[in-house]
Amino acid sequence: MQEPAVVIDPERRRMLRAGALAILTLSLPPLTACAQRTAAAGNAGPARIGVIGSGRIGGTVGGLWVKAGHPVLFSSRHPESLKPLVDGLGPLARAGTVAEAIAFADVLFLATPYGALPQLSQENAGAWSGKIVLDATNAIAQRDGAIADEAQRNGIGITTAKYLRGARVVRAFNFMGATNFANEHHRTGDLIAVPIAGDDEAALQVAAQLVRDAGFEPVVVGPLASADKFAPGGPLFRQIGTAEEFRRKMSGN
Ligand SMILES: NC(=O)c1ccc[n+]([C@@H]2O[C@H](COP(=O)([O-])OP(=O)(O)OC[C@H]3O[C@@H](n4cnc5c(N)ncnc54)[C@H](OP(=O)(O)O)[C@@H]3O)[C@@H](O)[C@H]2O)c1
Repeated sequence: MQEPAVVIDPERRRMLRAGALAILTLSLPPLTACAQRTAAAGNAGPARIGVIGSGRIGGTVGGLWVKAGHPVLFSSRHPESLKPLVDGLGPLARAGTVAEAIAFADVLFLATPYGALPQLSQENAGAWSGKIVLDATNAIAQRDGAIADEAQRNGIGITTAKYLRGARVVRAFNFMGATNFANEHHRTGDLIAVPIAGDDEAALQVAAQLVRDAGFEPVVVGPLASADKFAPGGPLFRQIGTAEEFRRKMSGN
């Protein structure tokens, strides 16, 4: 199943960002509740998060982390366009360039079109080393061009790690839509599962905590090479359900 390629003009993008923010503002639990849950889970404290690609998925998931008490730098090639988003999220949110987000962050959240990877790689060569990158991108042939074939051939997580040389890549938050993340976080009852995959154990643990802080239940699918299972076209893509239901689908039942 593929996401459609969408071209959005700047005014429509501004309205979409404002809409995503309105949904989040209406549906989020108070910060104190999130902070208590974070403390109970043994998290050492807030992580400085840099969002690269602050559109539908970056704005939505980044907003959930701000509400959970994490300082988030949302980046754009036009940071001034993010003013409505960051003003609406309050003092923990700010806007900047991609380079500023990389320099600021303990953890980066990558949410650009997959086709932006070669440019991001070149423009920030050397800056990725040691950074934990939660990669929410999906490779869509008609939008992303040749790099989508490369991801198809070699594996999407492996391909991201090749371009972001030295980064500790964890695939996360790519398996369902931004609207699902906006609507399903901190659900009453069993939380919705979010699959993650990576090769770096410590980075996986950080990713798992940030999945919890966003209001979901992490499920480790396996190493980075296994991330294709929950990318578009994989058997676990858009398998929305609880962790128990997701694990049952993982085991083929
Ligand atoms: N939307 C979903 O439901 C969803 C769900 C799961 C995964 N994904 C994946 O997440 C990624 C983002 O999707 P989206 O729907 O959130 O897209 P989007 O709303 O169009 O946002 C993408 C953002 O990426 C930034 N960007 C584009 N090219 C860039 C470049 N060369 N360098 C730096 N930033 C660049 C743009 O910001 P500026 O123009 O402001 O720089 C834009 O706001 C895609 O790979 C998509 O497949 C999307």
